Amino acid sequence: MCGIVGYVGKRECTDILIKALHRLEYRGYDSAGIAVFEGDKLKTVKAKGKINDGLVEKLKFEKKLTATAGISHTRWATHGEPSDINSHPIGNGRVSIVHNGIIENYRELKAFLISKGYGFESETDTETVAKLLDYYYDGDPIEAIAKAMQDIRGAYALGIIFREHKNKIFAVRCESPLIVGKGNGENFIASDITAVLEYTKDYYLLEHNEIAILDENGITFESFHGEEIQKELKTADWDISAAERGGYNHFMLKEIHEQPDAIRNTISPRVKDGLPDFSECGLTTEKLRSYKNIYIVGCGSAMHAGLVGKTLIEKLARIPVVVDIASEFRYRDPLVTADDLVVIISQSGETADTLAALKLARSIGADTFAIVNVVGSSIAREASMVMYTNAGPEISVCSTKAYAVQVAFMYLFAFQIAYANGKLSEEKCKELTAELLEIPNYVHQCIDNESAYQLVASKIMNASSLLYIGRGLDYALSMEGSLKLKEISYIHSEAYASGELKHGTISLITEDTPVIALATQSELFEKTLSNVKEVKSRGAKVVMICCEDTNIDDASVDYKIGLPRISELLMPLVTVVPLQMVAYYTAVLRGCDVDMPRNLAKSVTVE
Ligand code: AGP
Ligand code: GLU
Repeated sequence: MCGIVGYVGKRECTDILIKALHRLEYRGYDSAGIAVFEGDKLKTVKAKGKINDGLVEKLKFEKKLTATAGISHTRWATHGEPSDINSHPIGNGRVSIVHNGIIENYRELKAFLISKGYGFESETDTETVAKLLDYYYDGDPIEAIAKAMQDIRGAYALGIIFREHKNKIFAVRCESPLIVGKGNGENFIASDITAVLEYTKDYYLLEHNEIAILDENGITFESFHGEEIQKELKTADWDISAAERGGYNHFMLKEIHEQPDAIRNTISPRVKDGLPDFSECGLTTEKLRSYKNIYIVGCGSAMHAGLVGKTLIEKLARIPVVVDIASEFRYRDPLVTADDLVVIISQSGETADTLAALKLARSIGADTFAIVNVVGSSIAREASMVMYTNAGPEISVCSTKAYAVQVAFMYLFAFQIAYANGKLSEEKCKELTAELLEIPNYVHQCIDNESAYQLVASKIMNASSLLYIGRGLDYALSMEGSLKLKEISYIHSEAYASGELKHGTISLITEDTPVIALATQSELFEKTLSNVKEVKSRGAKVVMICCEDTNIDDASVDYKIGLPRISELLMPLVTVVPLQMVAYYTAVLRGCDVDMPRNLAKSVTVE
């Protein structure tokens, strides 16, 4: 996916566009560019690389721009390598666009346009949209946009400017996110409100088949048939400081430290008289009793949170749970029926595979329940029921507090569905809920143990490959720990059910293979300790993450990270902290770009 920003108003827009783009850089940073109304022309400056490395450097060699309207883009490449020519904005002098998404039928459009005499410079799918708009444009931008959108298939959020319509910006979307910010004598488009929050908290959510028309005097919306549309103005309930680093070296560290509050803000409002309260979304006791199966669908860390949810729901509510990677779910012709509940987990609420899985579930007639962090996101709007995690904006590409609140939500949901189905007494449900409410204090305690994490990071930073091992809930957490390390430190790792090692993978163990063993579940501890001894006897360096009072033969492990002794069922909520912190400090020691790891983007709104 990528970041889109547009500005129209009375002020010079170049610096405004650049500054706003920086707030979206976590969404993709392969290249960046701007296109502005300069005199009677559209002036485009764009370059490969991050904003400061490419675009800002290139602007230094340009005559100072005085434009007061323009569009800008920070790219996460899907079609065409990161390069100057494949950067956005893309246009031909009459029209210029920035695009988030994928045009699925770009090949046939390209062939059609070539048959009409158009040439193509870039390898992108986006260029076909720019040329198609030009093809249909005969002076009326709305008509050109409407005709072009009828022809294209795929996901898109588009910012569009026409040379002949000076200081006007047009925007249209399908699947990919785009908001329209309403300022005081100035107006904006942006992939998310974070980009423009310092200028305005007031925004519109653009829907499919709507065209936004912005100039310095105001914003109007029209359908593809030219009818005016009235829309509700929304107001963001957090300010730009929440999206700032706040004195931390990286957003990731800040967001790890925010976990206690994020969990508190997510759980506490959903507890009433000591019991979980899901009334805000309509997930009634009657509904909870009706579901035959539960499917939990997501990607990456969101899916990993679902793995914890599976263990909890099956253990407490005795209802079958299937956890699926969204990109697999949507193509496996899943056995979902109208008697099932499909739980969709997504921080951004814009992940293309997850959104597609949600639509498939709805088409089958299953109830859909979305757990999302971004208010008003596509998944939130598409699901039949939604509840928001209240983690605040998560800027670092690496999910930390978002994962933590997703897992916390899984606990509350598991307690609720078990109680609704008579598998948990009211007393036991209240007891577990009360313990969950206390978790933020224990998470805080774990965060403070930074020296232990820094020590382990110093011991694994030069490894070429690691294993994370665990059983049951610890296996689910191993998956998350492995992903954290890989995505920000670029060290290969693999999560493995520790009991499965001896069936092949243990052959990888040498004296150079660090193993991070999770052993928080007492009923499985002896088995896991045996697995630890198996890898130790083959030379592995073992880091054990377990309760601080766990009595282990120190000869078994090289390093131990102790956790507070709490209900073992709730251990995942504290176990994840060392996993996040070890990955963080390893990445820092290796000089990696923690918040914007190579090849990644915060939310993958393309397939
Ligand atoms: C996790 O650290 C990654 N950033 C990634 O796996 C992420 O969890 C995944 O892309 C899902 O994103 P979503 O929660 O916004 O749908
Ligand atoms: N598909 C377009 C490209 O590859 C846009 C990618 C994005 O969403 O950043 O340029």
